[in-house]
Amino acid sequence: MHNLNLRSLLAVALIVTGAVANAADTNVALKDAFKSRFNIGVALNPRQFTEQDAGAVALVKQQFNAIAPENVMKWQLIHPRAGEDGYNFEPADQYVKFGEKNGMYIVGHTLVWHGQTPNWVFQGTNPPPAEGQNPGGKKGFGFNGPRASREELLDRMRTHIHTVAGRYKGKVKAWDVVNEALADGDGEEVLRNSLWRQIIGPDFIAKAFGFAQEADPDAVLRYNDYGLENTVKRRKLITLVKSLQAEGVPVTAIGTQAHLNVSSASFESMDQALTEMETLGLPIHVTELDINSAQGGQRNTSADIANNADATKGGLVDDSAKRLADAYAGVFRAFLKHKDQVKLVTFWGANDAVSWRANGKPLLFDGSNRPKPAFEAVIEEAKKGSASK
Ligand code: G3I
Repeated sequence: MHNLNLRSLLAVALIVTGAVANAADTNVALKDAFKSRFNIGVALNPRQFTEQDAGAVALVKQQFNAIAPENVMKWQLIHPRAGEDGYNFEPADQYVKFGEKNGMYIVGHTLVWHGQTPNWVFQGTNPPPAEGQNPGGKKGFGFNGPRASREELLDRMRTHIHTVAGRYKGKVKAWDVVNEALADGDGEEVLRNSLWRQIIGPDFIAKAFGFAQEADPDAVLRYNDYGLENTVKRRKLITLVKSLQAEGVPVTAIGTQAHLNVSSASFESMDQALTEMETLGLPIHVTELDINSAQGGQRNTSADIANNADATKGGLVDDSAKRLADAYAGVFRAFLKHKDQVKLVTFWGANDAVSWRANGKPLLFDGSNRPKPAFEAVIEEAKKGSASK
């Protein structure tokens, strides 16, 4: 009886201490847990890098050792108007300063993209293609008027890349040089029919990398895209990068965004994706990780990411906290397995409240910066990974 009581007491004590260790204990930091494997990054918004959002800032400093700018280095924001006076460097300067002050690995996002690029970039005096002769060309690119010539647009691209990547030379360590140039869907078309491609031609990608290398020869130059967990899209990535490599284009890393959902994110699918991407022989950066828990975001992974406004509708899936934890544990197990190639894992936002998919509660920290069970699950994988090293 006496023994039994002691045993019961011990069991209770273990449960209690276990519970305490598992509870919201952010004395454990992601950046430390994965040290010697890969850096852990986070996308920042202006209220964070100007230190106004005190809770998120504390979390960022505590948990992460790399940063990406969620919006402020995109063309629309850093170069809204034509001409030498058309730049707005202040937010990007503040972002870089925050990273330097805190000794973080600083990423630049993004130099050439079909999204968040102002109309003036594509404007000129050449008539657009006649109706019906430009399938897909009118959709979603925001500009249908008379266009720049190939030479004009290349000139604008060169000046933009030289100016922006040149300004942060040596400070920004990795650039998303070209973002999301691959076509969605199951068709044979490898490249998206963007205005960049229409006006310059498919070599706009090679040109962008060449200009980026001229601007900062030491920076890691990434090709970055989403949906690479999808077999068809991944095949297109491999085709594209192999052809760039064959031409000697200086792509020096693959950026895989990893905007996932709890239904399809798993060790197996991430392992497969990384295994195939590794055949390109380049370092891999996971650039925009989040895992959507909303019912609306559990279906298609091959659609255009910009058109997934419905992806956070319908409330959360059943048992969402556990499903999120399991999904994160699976993908981190895969990152650890591929740690020799995976050099950086960046979350697309610090907490659920600031996420572009806020309703899908896709991150490791809730809207009050408290760690969720998914955080504990990721830390657990780091510990298991260390034990099996
Ligand atoms: O800056 C204006 C602000 O002045 C205005 O008051 C506010 C009102 O809605 O809008 C603000 O701009 C928004 C901007 O985010 C900053 O919050 C834009 O409308 C909104 O479209 C923009 O969304 C960004 C989106 O890219 C645009 O495509 C998201 O924050 C950003 O997380 C998202 O990030 C992309 C990556 O760059 C590339 N990969 C996919 C990823 C998710 O879509």
